[in-house]
Amino acid sequence: MKSFVFAALAITATAQRIWIQAPVLDQQVIPGDDLVIEIQSEDSSTPYTDIAAAIGIQPWSRGSYDGELGEYLVYQGNWSIEGFAYPQGGLYTNVTVTVPSDVPLGPAVLSVAMFQVYSSENSPSLETASTNISVVSSS
Ligand SMILES: *[C@@H]1O[C@H](CO)[C@@H](O)[C@H](O)[C@H]1NC(C)=O
Ligand SMILES: *[C@@H]1O[C@H](CO)[C@@H](O)[C@H](O)[C@H]1NC(C)=O
Ligand SMILES: *[C@@H]1O[C@H](CO)[C@@H](O)[C@H](O)[C@H]1NC(C)=O
Repeated sequence: MKSFVFAALAITATAQRIWIQAPVLDQQVIPGDDLVIEIQSEDSSTPYTDIAAAIGIQPWSRGSYDGELGEYLVYQGNWSIEGFAYPQGGLYTNVTVTVPSDVPLGPAVLSVAMFQVYSSENSPSLETASTNISVVSSS
């Protein structure tokens, strides 16, 4: 009986799924330029605290593998929800990063990893999301 109760709790008390709202799929980005990255997450009835995030870019030409942020780390630091994004309805956070000036031109993958703790017991959780971008020259 006790293990059944524990299993039911495990289903309802989950970390938040996250996704990248911006840049959009295959959006063109320019080395050296600013890029607004908008991360959204589901609202949750489970209490949670966002702690930190890291965002990276990996050129497809260099090989890309699940579970890696990429060779170019564009953000590392604190993370917290800014507010509600309508009409999508997700909680969002915007962060502006600079696309490194030495990222090779061509398709690349932008990945985010967000660390949070959730539930009254502060279970640790690492949520990840990624999207394709296209690195193009300014001229
Ligand atoms: C990080 O912390 C600073 C200072 O409190 C705040 O201005 C900024 O919005 C935070 N960044 C994120 C992505 O949460
Ligand atoms: C967050 O970034 C998205 C994508 O650039 C933009 O559409 C939205 O207006 C931004 N939200 C705020 C509050 O700046
Ligand atoms: C991203 O690009 C890779 C390599 O071209 C491709 O395999 C993958 O399907 C793309 N992902 C999306 C969501 O389009």
